[in-house]
Amino acid sequence: MNLKGAKIVVTGASSGIGKEVLERLKAYDCTIVATSRTIEETAEAKVAESDAAKSSVAEPNLSDPNRENIYYKNFDLSEKSDIDKLFDYALEKMGSIDLFIANAGFMYYETIYPADFEHIDQIFRLNTTGVIYSAVKMKEICKENPYNFVAVSSGFGFLSYPGYALYCSTKAALRGFGQGYKYELLPNQHYQSVYPIAVKTDFFRKAGCDAPPKPQQSAEHVAKTIIRGIEKNQAEIYPSKSFWFLKTFFPYLLNLGVLMEKGKFRKKLK
Ligand SMILES: NC(=O)c1ccc[n+]([C@@H]2O[C@H](COP(=O)([O-])OP(=O)(O)OC[C@H]3O[C@@H](n4cnc5c(N)ncnc54)[C@H](OP(=O)(O)O)[C@@H]3O)[C@@H](O)[C@H]2O)c1
Repeated sequence: MNLKGAKIVVTGASSGIGKEVLERLKAYDCTIVATSRTIEETAEAKVAESDAAKSSVAEPNLSDPNRENIYYKNFDLSEKSDIDKLFDYALEKMGSIDLFIANAGFMYYETIYPADFEHIDQIFRLNTTGVIYSAVKMKEICKENPYNFVAVSSGFGFLSYPGYALYCSTKAALRGFGQGYKYELLPNQHYQSVYPIAVKTDFFRKAGCDAPPKPQQSAEHVAKTIIRGIEKNQAEIYPSKSFWFLKTFFPYLLNLGVLMEKGKFRKKLK
C-alpha cells in the first residue's frame, strides 16, 4: 500500500516496536491514531496536546506542513468496549481507516499453576481475541474498499519455548487465524502477519524474565521491516531472514533454541 497520506491506527504505540513504527510513519505525512493504556502520559502526547491547545483552531490545520497529525488516546484493548471506542474515535478523527497495526501485546514467563481461568483469558483477550475482533471490524467498516490489517504475531507462534506456553499459544492462534482469514478478503484487502524473533524492548522484563532468548533484534530494525512489508503488501513479514530460512528449510534446528531454554527454565523452577 502507499503509506503517503494514509489514515492509520497503531496499537501498543507507547513503547518498543509500536513506538518505533510510529516514529517511522511520521515521515509519510500520515494521519495516525496512536494508542495504548498509558500513551496520553508520554512526552510526545503531552507536546502534541500543548501544541493543539496553543492552536486557535480545534482541529489541526491540514495545510500546515509542520503539523503532526497524530492523535494519542488511551484504550485498554483487552476490553471489547475499548476496542469499539478506539474504532469510533479513529473514525471521528480521520473519517476512515486505511491501515490498522495491531501490535499491542504482553507475555507471561511462568509455570501455569494453579488453574486460573481469568489469567488464561486475560492474555488471550489482548493478544488474540482483541486482534481478531479488530480485523473483522476493519472489514465491516471498510466493506469493499482497500485496506491493510497488520497483526504482530511472533516467532513463538511457530514453536513454543518453556515458560512461555500461554504466550506462545496466543501467537500460534493468531497465525492460524491469519492463514485462513486472508481468503475471506478481496484482492485489494491485505491481512499481514509479522513474526519477529526476540526484540530488545521492555517486553521480557515486564514478564519477569531477566534473560530473554537470543539472538535479539533492535526495535528499529523490526519497525523498518514492518513498514517495508506493509508497502509491499506482504502476507507474512519476517524481520529475521535467518529465522525465516530455518523455519522453512530446517525447522528441526529451531528446537536447539528450545533445548537451551529448557535448562534455564529448570533452574527457575528450583
Ligand atoms: N519484544 C519481543 O521480543 C517480541 C518478539 C516477538 C513479538 N513481539 C510482539 O510485538 C508486540 C510489541 O511488543 P514490544 O516488544 O514492543 O513490547 P512492549 O515494549 O512491552 O510494548 C507493548 C505495548 O502494548 C501496550 N499494551 C499492553 N497491554 C495493553 C492493553 N491491555 N491495552 C492496550 N495496549 C496495551 C503497551 O502500552 P501500555 O502499557 O501503555 O498499555 C505497549 O505500548 C507484542 O504483540 C509482542 O507480542 C515482541
